[in-house]
Amino acid sequence: MWVYEEDVSIPKTSPHYDEAVGDAPQKLTHIINKYHENVKYLPGIALPSNIVANPSLVDAVQDSTILIFNLPHQFIRNVCDQIRGKIVPFARGISCIKGVNVSDEGVSLFSEWIGDGLNIYVGALSGANIASEIAAEKWSETTIAYDPPPMDNSRAPTPRSQSPNVTMTVTEPPADMQHRDARGRKSKAKLTPVPAEYPPLDHECFRTLFHRPYFHVQMVSDVAGVSLGGALKNIVALAAGFVDGRGWGDNAKAAVMRIGLMEMVKFGKEFFGETVRTGTFTESSAGVADLITSCSGGRNFRCAKKAVEKGITVDEVEKQDLNGQKLQGTSTAFEVNSFLKARGLEMDYPLFTAVNSILLGKASVDDIPNLVSETEKKP
Ligand code: 13P
Repeated sequence: MWVYEEDVSIPKTSPHYDEAVGDAPQKLTHIINKYHENVKYLPGIALPSNIVANPSLVDAVQDSTILIFNLPHQFIRNVCDQIRGKIVPFARGISCIKGVNVSDEGVSLFSEWIGDGLNIYVGALSGANIASEIAAEKWSETTIAYDPPPMDNSRAPTPRSQSPNVTMTVTEPPADMQHRDARGRKSKAKLTPVPAEYPPLDHECFRTLFHRPYFHVQMVSDVAGVSLGGALKNIVALAAGFVDGRGWGDNAKAAVMRIGLMEMVKFGKEFFGETVRTGTFTESSAGVADLITSCSGGRNFRCAKKAVEKGITVDEVEKQDLNGQKLQGTSTAFEVNSFLKARGLEMDYPLFTAVNSILLGKASVDDIPNLVSETEKKP
């Protein structure tokens, strides 16, 4: 596991606090490898002893056939720049990053971005997965979307909906001989085939790799839907935090979740077309379930709620409370808004627009009911 190296002092309250060392900063990788605990970002959770924290990115990825990307999206470009050309050419990746890369020109998925940057195929994992609960091995579900283009007949991926041992509850499209990428374009990517001596890197392989008694995996092919679910729900979670912080209760929170889910589906359908499946948003862990958990106890929700209660900005709460972790919702809200504005579509996504306006101080939480009202918009 690559770990961004930091100097960290072990707090006095930690069982690993050593009087002889005191508050003297130590390398985070050294702390993790000595005590099998990430005292800064995941305190109190024992890590398996076969996880080795490695401060060298190039060393950590060397010889790995499967690369799992789990880092704030702000750092992807730099990480890809460092490992390009230094990885196994037939490696495959899974992006666990909840966000999308939105610019005024368009929306791209982090899985695509990493895949294009490294010339490998990258799928996406997302779900109702509050990190601390998974770390404590409390039961949850997740969704992995993986749909690489076929390489040749001997190494074609398992057709959609036909992976062995995989229970699909999301209705998948029929097996389609013409492979399309996450945007519905006919695949052009030239993938390096996995050598015959390796097991196929397919749905079965990824399910086996991730599935645990406390972490149930659902495999699907809708990479765009899974990625958009994980990104857009962060905007909705901010809205839920705003109304909860105002003390408006569960009905108001349910209202923003309903409207938010509709905007998420609309966004997926409008900008990713035929490959995005409504069911990914309404049936999978990466859709509605992640929306619910994020609006109940996620960091975006908690920070937005506290910001309203204390009368300060969400950015200020992030700095005070998150110990260096980064919220994804604030940047996603801003980027999505800029993208919609460039197309004159802000009013078609009233909740997304309202959240951005509130973050920028151009609207208040009290405006939300009017801003999102269906009846007001009708002539
Ligand atoms: P945040 O804690 O970043 O809001 O996200 C929670 C989450 O993604 C739960 O699945």
